[in-house]
Amino acid sequence: MNNAVNQLVVDLELIRRLDKNGPRYTSYPTADRFAKDFNADSYKRWVAQRRASGGGPLSLYIHIPFCNTLCFYCACNKVITKDRSKSAEYVRYLLKEMAMQAELLGPGQTLEQLHFGGGTPTFLSDDEIREVMAAIAKHFKMVPDGEYSIEIDPRKVSDDTIALLGQTGFNRISIGVQDFDEEVQKAVNRIQSEEETLRIIAAARANGFKSVSIDLIYGLPKQTLEGFGRTLDRIIAANPDRLSIYNYAHMPTLFMPQRRIHEEDLPSGQMKLDILSMAVNKLTGAGYVYIGMDHFAKPEDELAVAQRQGMLHRNFQGYSTHADCDLVALGVSAIGKVGPTYSGNFRELEQYYDALDRNELPVMRGIVLDHDDMIRREIIQALMCHFELDKPAFDREFKIDFDSYFATEQDELREYEREGLLELSPQRIVVTPKGRMLIRNICMVFDKYLRTRTEHARYSKVI
Ligand SMILES: C[S@@+](CC[C@H](N)C(=O)[O-])C[C@H]1O[C@@H](n2cnc3c(N)ncnc32)[C@H](O)[C@@H]1O
Ligand code: SF4
Repeated sequence: MNNAVNQLVVDLELIRRLDKNGPRYTSYPTADRFAKDFNADSYKRWVAQRRASGGGPLSLYIHIPFCNTLCFYCACNKVITKDRSKSAEYVRYLLKEMAMQAELLGPGQTLEQLHFGGGTPTFLSDDEIREVMAAIAKHFKMVPDGEYSIEIDPRKVSDDTIALLGQTGFNRISIGVQDFDEEVQKAVNRIQSEEETLRIIAAARANGFKSVSIDLIYGLPKQTLEGFGRTLDRIIAANPDRLSIYNYAHMPTLFMPQRRIHEEDLPSGQMKLDILSMAVNKLTGAGYVYIGMDHFAKPEDELAVAQRQGMLHRNFQGYSTHADCDLVALGVSAIGKVGPTYSGNFRELEQYYDALDRNELPVMRGIVLDHDDMIRREIIQALMCHFELDKPAFDREFKIDFDSYFATEQDELREYEREGLLELSPQRIVVTPKGRMLIRNICMVFDKYLRTRTEHARYSKVI
């Protein structure tokens, strides 16, 4: 693999000029291409095919939508409530959905990956977490060296809950921080002390978690270079294994709560770039390597190791060391992947509950990938994970002639080559260190669906 894989150059002038709206490619085709003609019956047919062909290990995603309070920037699928009884009702439905899925999949299914996302998964009480984990253990076999992760909001999570998560099998944790700056916290309605965050990191370590990851966001209202610099210094001192530095995507027409953010408080485009560049310098200076998109990891972390070995993958949870498994998704708005398909559950609680009351799987939409989608998906994966692709390997795997199949795309890439973002040769496409921050732009060239769309307004900016 490419030895220089972890090198990154932040070219602010290039980013300013070439930055455009684009998807994050946690799937290809992206979820906005899923259609309603794919329903629960279609899903069942594909699971039957999986069963007939012997299947393989599974990945399980569980979405818990509830949060106690609203963070104004949030773009996740969530339900804000202080009513704790909501989760008891939700867990009842979740367990019903799990039992239906398990029956469909057949006995003895092996789990290699598990992810609890949200919303806030720890909105569930400790007893509810036990209940869900016991149901998983009943229906699936969790392999000992699997990736079992959960998203944690440190506010109001006790050390006992972290211990319980460790005991029930979780071994990776990602902690939402965003920014320690008090002015920023007030402007986004998320007051979270440094102490609570550090306490959770310590609790995760004490309970044997293999990897601790921190989420930060740049571009939030009232953010400054000094303030975010201080946050980064404190986080680096806490020594997490991984970090995600997300770009705040301000799209108030799409996400209602963002209307409560005063636009005049948002940092300017130039300020955002300065913050980004400082963040990259501080993190690489502290020894972190750039994995891709918004992610950094210590060189000895398994993501960085997998990237060096050419074994990195990308899925709905971001980067992963596990090869593409079929993904069973439970809960409102959850997205699954079985064989050459993606499927999405209902996005509203009421519809999700109604479907399960009718004893139907709550699948609302989906897509069956054709041969062309599969080729493009693999290209986007290769670029996102390894910043390069080997054209003859695609010729062999997909029985195509890469250069003629992607003649239009390669013409477009030549423009990026002139800008110094990548190098094209008869054998390979290699993204240069200064092209890496713009990897989404490069992947967008291979996205067939963007060719038929006239505007990209529904996506956030790349940077
Ligand atoms: C579901 S939340 C994490 C779990 C938990 N609810 C919390 O807030 O700590 C996942 C992460 O998405 C990121 N995020 C949410 N909305 C965002 C937005 N509009 N732009 C960029 N990142 C965002 C935040 O960093 C957040 O920690
Ligand atoms: S950032 Fe986390 S806690 Fe805040 S509203 Fe979004 S999902 Fe809920």
